[in-house]
Amino acid sequence: MRTVIPINRDWLYKPHFSQEDDLNKPAGKEGYQQVCLPHTNIELPYNYFDDAAFCFISCYKRRLSLEPRWQGQRLFLDFEGVMNFARVFINGEPAGEHRGGYTAFSVEITDLVRFDGENEVTVAVDSTERPDTPPFGGRIDYLTYGGIYREVQLRVVPPVHLKHVFLSTPDVQADSAGLAAEITPDGIKGGDPHEYTTRIVLKDGETILARQQETIPDGRPARLRLHSLSNIQLWSLNSPKLYSLDCALLKGTEEIDHVEVRVGFRDIRLTSGGCWLNGEKIKLRGLNRHQSFPYAGYAMPKRAQRKDADILKYELGLTMVRTSHYPQSRHFLDRCDEIGLLVFEEIPGWQHIGSEEWQDQAVRDVEQMILTDRNHPSIFIWGVRINESPDHHNLYTRTNDLARRLDPTRPTGGVRFIPGSEMLEDVYTMNDFIHDNGYGKYLAKVIRDFKTYDHLQGQDGEAVVLRDPRDVTGLSHDVPYMVTEYNGHVYPTKRFDQEERLVEHALRHARVQNALYADDRILGAVGWCAFDYNTHADFGAGDKICYHGVMDMFRIPKMAAYAYRSQKSPGEEVVMEPATCWARGERSVGGVIPLVIFTNCDEVTFLYGSERIGSYKPDRLRYPALPHPPVVIDDMTGAWGMKWEDATFIGWIGGKEVIRRSFSRNAVPARLEMLADDTVLKAGDWDTTRVTVSVKDQMGNVMPFLMESLVVTVEGAGELIGPGQLSLIGGQAAFWIRSKGDAGEILVSASCPRLNRTEHRSITVEN
Ligand code: GAL
Repeated sequence: MRTVIPINRDWLYKPHFSQEDDLNKPAGKEGYQQVCLPHTNIELPYNYFDDAAFCFISCYKRRLSLEPRWQGQRLFLDFEGVMNFARVFINGEPAGEHRGGYTAFSVEITDLVRFDGENEVTVAVDSTERPDTPPFGGRIDYLTYGGIYREVQLRVVPPVHLKHVFLSTPDVQADSAGLAAEITPDGIKGGDPHEYTTRIVLKDGETILARQQETIPDGRPARLRLHSLSNIQLWSLNSPKLYSLDCALLKGTEEIDHVEVRVGFRDIRLTSGGCWLNGEKIKLRGLNRHQSFPYAGYAMPKRAQRKDADILKYELGLTMVRTSHYPQSRHFLDRCDEIGLLVFEEIPGWQHIGSEEWQDQAVRDVEQMILTDRNHPSIFIWGVRINESPDHHNLYTRTNDLARRLDPTRPTGGVRFIPGSEMLEDVYTMNDFIHDNGYGKYLAKVIRDFKTYDHLQGQDGEAVVLRDPRDVTGLSHDVPYMVTEYNGHVYPTKRFDQEERLVEHALRHARVQNALYADDRILGAVGWCAFDYNTHADFGAGDKICYHGVMDMFRIPKMAAYAYRSQKSPGEEVVMEPATCWARGERSVGGVIPLVIFTNCDEVTFLYGSERIGSYKPDRLRYPALPHPPVVIDDMTGAWGMKWEDATFIGWIGGKEVIRRSFSRNAVPARLEMLADDTVLKAGDWDTTRVTVSVKDQMGNVMPFLMESLVVTVEGAGELIGPGQLSLIGGQAAFWIRSKGDAGEILVSASCPRLNRTEHRSITVEN
């Protein structure tokens, strides 16, 4: 039977590799550092670093002892992600290699291992930006980092075993559903006299709902169907019910292999008139996610990956995410399945298409992405074009054909920014940066030969928020159409920017979402982007950060986050966030007008000092289609030189007060707050949680221009990721702490000398 063992602990790491020394000489620990995966080849500073600092070849080594009972079985090392080109050796002998940093791969080690002593696994990890491999060869607006940055496991299976299981859910009706399973075995040789069968058992927890058994025809995939299953709860955004399917492989009557796969029954259709999930029309409200984190780059384990999905779903109220611009962690996708967040997953790439060899690799990326991830019910579309690349009939015919063959159940998309580009996909997915208040049109004129600005040109940049789909496609009929990026570089905004900019940034997101809801032909709009990210010198604010997120790199919200969060139904969460730091002289000319309040309340009352200025309804005039338009107050009087007062905002739903916020005219630091996302971590491989420190005033508001120093210490069973001496940025700072693997207590302290306060937290690491 199958055995799967995580092998993330006890690796040795060295930031260089030499064939001569690292393969031919006995390995000592000298020159190596002991590490646990996921691992980044170099920890980068927060900003202002060399954008080639991670581009080198490193060496990872690990001892591997095998149990005698595994002799005669087949052994694989499964790597979930190694950036960017990996060569794997067993006891100095080449075992396999893999190109591309974003797809999982397996290396068979059966014939290279010994059972009478320890084996040595060596991985030479080339993290340079190799022009023969996507996304490299041109310039890219993000960093790819380096190292074995996702998990590794040892998989022991019998000579004949299960290779792929592909589940889909045809015939989904309100009260019944079907399940189709395609089960592919491996290792059945011609002339094998045994009969192999496969058996599937559908379960809801421990309850068995249905079973089916089928002969495997000559080693080819077996196709099984469960028809008209009754009482199936469908997978939906609000109730993402998951069942499990046990798949067994039998040789005669003996069960020889077994896997369990989760399944969500859902029917999703993308048409030119809308997106339908289980027959219900939904709008796809999304943001793009890069998988990077400060300091650690891509190398963050399960909990951090899952937390990002939670942030997108619960803190931002999204219905979908695009995994820009590459396949992302299994943990992230698993969590999207569990919480009901739809996913647009795409192949690695950014504007550039390389040589034929490079293109072959892009096609392999499609294959590996789909084979690895096609059982996630949350994934509803495959991105099979290189993000924002020009047309390439041959390449994109290949990627589309392959995607449809490997997964006939999902549509393809391909993200473009050139209007009128060829539609080989099922959904026309377009980055529409038209909403730029005319600035792009101006730039395009000034730098006419600068081709990347072409996509900013519109006929009427001032007024248009989203282009008409037919103007974009150039087609005379409607096709399924989705906007896959907007805003981003058109209006970079820092969390600690001036208030007018933060408000305009937030309103741009609200305007585009309003335009999405106003047009039935647009299935969804996915903003650029969820989180700020580290980038190359050719992009960003000069400090190697693109401040394009509605949250910063630490996932702390900017005002724009509330343009999304306030779209949640009040039943899920009541939201009322006045987009102001409440000051007389922060904005140009002074005052706080227009005062925008992102809310899902029916009405907001505003008090200035003790004076009731009025009660205000959501602004349906300017945002008629948005589920929850912001309240906009623009009739407050008062001039420069007048006394400034406190403010109070009261939110009402159905005539009842549901939320209240107050702001002080005279804010002073009143408390230091430290919040850990988790208080219990898991022992084993390293685990992590984020800790956020905020300085708040006497009314509980974060102080947006407080940049004092903060000293963080972590003791006991954990350590700090990144530096211990920080400065609060806009009244807040966040950091991740990591466990060392063993159970125990982690003690975190943060002191702010200016406030003369220290906060302590204890986090438990449990077995
Ligand atoms: C797009 C690109 C993204 C990001 C964004 C910034 O052109 O696809 O990766 O660079 O611009 O707005």
